[in-house]
Amino acid sequence: MTPWTLRRLTVPASLDAPDSWLLRGAVAVEHAAHRDAWGNLDLARTEHEVLAILRHQRYLRRERFVAVTGPATDGAPDPARVVGSAALSLPVDNNTHSAHLEISVRPGARRHGIGSALHDAAVAVARAAGRTTLTTSTDQRSEPAPGPASIAPSTGSGLVRSTDDGVRFALAHGFSLEQVTRFSVLDVPLDPSFLAGQHASAQAAAGNAYRIVTWDDPCPDEWVDQLAELETRMSTDAPGGGLDLHEDRWDADRVRATEAELRERGMRHSVAAAVHVPTGTLAAFSAFKRPAWTDEFVHQHDTLVLAEHRGRRLGMLVKTANLQRLAVEQPGARRIGTWNAEENAHMLGINVALGFRPAGGSGEWQARIV
Ligand SMILES: CC(C)(COP(=O)(O)OP(=O)(O)OC[C@H]1O[C@@H](n2cnc3c(N)ncnc32)[C@H](O)[C@@H]1OP(=O)(O)O)[C@@H](O)C(=O)NCCC(=O)NCCS
Repeated sequence: MTPWTLRRLTVPASLDAPDSWLLRGAVAVEHAAHRDAWGNLDLARTEHEVLAILRHQRYLRRERFVAVTGPATDGAPDPARVVGSAALSLPVDNNTHSAHLEISVRPGARRHGIGSALHDAAVAVARAAGRTTLTTSTDQRSEPAPGPASIAPSTGSGLVRSTDDGVRFALAHGFSLEQVTRFSVLDVPLDPSFLAGQHASAQAAAGNAYRIVTWDDPCPDEWVDQLAELETRMSTDAPGGGLDLHEDRWDADRVRATEAELRERGMRHSVAAAVHVPTGTLAAFSAFKRPAWTDEFVHQHDTLVLAEHRGRRLGMLVKTANLQRLAVEQPGARRIGTWNAEENAHMLGINVALGFRPAGGSGEWQARIV
């Protein structure tokens, strides 16, 4: 293995700037790891997107480290010299005891200590920022069968493969498995009459007290405070397994900042929400993130029904409303991907009823770094 050194990434002015090769190299490493884990780049971020994300640090401070082969200073500005990448996120307002770390090493450069060096550099920054809990994720293309080659999380729901590189690495670095999430894919377009039938039966169960509103960002001013409340509830009401993470408060400013970030990333944020007519408030919402660089793949993002409105099939109502709209607006869409905690039986039930099929998932890990 060629000698390598670590560098802390500074945010380049653009993707053409002289120092941008480090960012472009980091993204290439992440793509190589994605291809290795998933066989495609549906879930990967583009260079453009990573740069846009790095420009937005009001709610998440972001630090990046790269492992570079060749001379420690200077040397050719060649993205291919980057063999490892670490992205550390430090929440600014809430959960300030925590930090999240994602590490990728080129498959051909693994088992040479690069991942460990990136981990140690990120932990030093997290500790200096007063963080005591570090979380990380590992990807898997399929869930293993129960047996000696699998590990269950503290929740007891789902399994990860104990022989995967990321799992071995997480265990070697003192992380414990606190949750398993399922990645599911829905092949679209769906049969319009099936979708209309699901929507009509959900509307019948919900009754006349609820009506659907839809928007692409920006969220209309009249709903922005309530969307912030729904986003806050996402952080408390979606199952968090054994992860030591607490309420993450949103307000209208954060909704607007997130919309700006998504726009710069090239993501459309398409929302369907259920209005509770008697009170004129939002009771439920479901959102897609639609990348501009692919017509085929869509992210099914947050879905939430406020606790006081549950049990009326509003989850199915808002999801089917958004799917019906997508079928009209983006007929080229072929796959919708979504993530759910394995213990989230209600959300998984809706997704399975719509035809989402299991397509892998993640292990969610946590370590104390005091
Ligand atoms: C996880 C990952 C970042 C590790 O990078 P790496 O540079 O190979 O890691 P290191 O060489 O520092 O490995 C450190 C230790 O982790 C463990 N480990 C890592 N990969 C392993 C494997 N395939 N089999 C057994 N142990 C492994 C070992 O204890 C290893 O120490 P050793 O080589 O002295 O036995 C890399 O495999 C990767 O990019 N995987 C995909 C992304 C991912 O899962 N990231 C999340 C990490 S929590």
